[in-house]
Amino acid sequence: MPDNRAIGIFDSGLGGLTVLSAIKKKFPRENLIYFGDTARVPYGSKSRETVIRYSLEIQDFLVEQNVKMIVVACNTASSHALDEMRLKHDIPVLGVVEPGVMALTNHIKKIAHKIEKAAVIATRSTIKSGSYDAALKKINPGVYLYSKACPLLVPLIEEGFTDRKATEMILREYLDEIVREDIHYIILGCTHYPLLKSVMERLYPEITLIDSSVETANMLEELLAERDLKTGSEKNGIIKLFVSDITDSLLEMEKLFFGGTIDSVEKVALGW
Ligand code: DGL
Repeated sequence: MPDNRAIGIFDSGLGGLTVLSAIKKKFPRENLIYFGDTARVPYGSKSRETVIRYSLEIQDFLVEQNVKMIVVACNTASSHALDEMRLKHDIPVLGVVEPGVMALTNHIKKIAHKIEKAAVIATRSTIKSGSYDAALKKINPGVYLYSKACPLLVPLIEEGFTDRKATEMILREYLDEIVREDIHYIILGCTHYPLLKSVMERLYPEITLIDSSVETANMLEELLAERDLKTGSEKNGIIKLFVSDITDSLLEMEKLFFGGTIDSVEKVALGW
């Protein structure tokens, strides 16, 4: 039986629109509901308890919207809140950490290096959680993973500094030391970092960058098929955007992370 209910996607803010984009591309007919917690962003500097509480509130909201499943586009929320979310509601939940690690493993399979070394860059809270290490140990324990928090990158990207001298300097400050360790791959463990791909490719041409958004869409396809949740609609799906605050930069952020504007934006208040 086809299921025409929407897929719920959420992030701490609008960076997760990079994941929404990948999902929309792969599933043009699915209805999508995106929630961006623009009033409480960033999550990357917050404690595990707070990130879990916020994620559960957003999950409640999405369940009220009758979504058929939830994609947690935020790496920080995916690192902390998946278990609690799965306990709270009987609805499939997919995070972005496992797809990121799967994407890395798929790359490694294609090109066999002698010593497998990779790095993950992410927010402080994601790195502190150890989520990428834990996921990699389960899937591919032979790979050594360096972890590096890069807290200055999110504000830089949100200011539109995706290809500036200052961005290069800060990237070098963070990454030169791990690149010296002879790593072959860097997982972009944050919604925003795919926007730095071209500058990173220029700075470190020998390194393969792993973007989890495409692999998230691939894993979503498996999940929809497994659970019999695919839409039966022949028409293009609708995207509804909900935010917890209408900020001055909302339109700019939509353009930056989504490449255009979404028709309907609605503000909803969640508990604090
Ligand atoms: N969405 C967050 C993540 O992917 C980055 C922004 C934030 O710190 O909230 O980890």
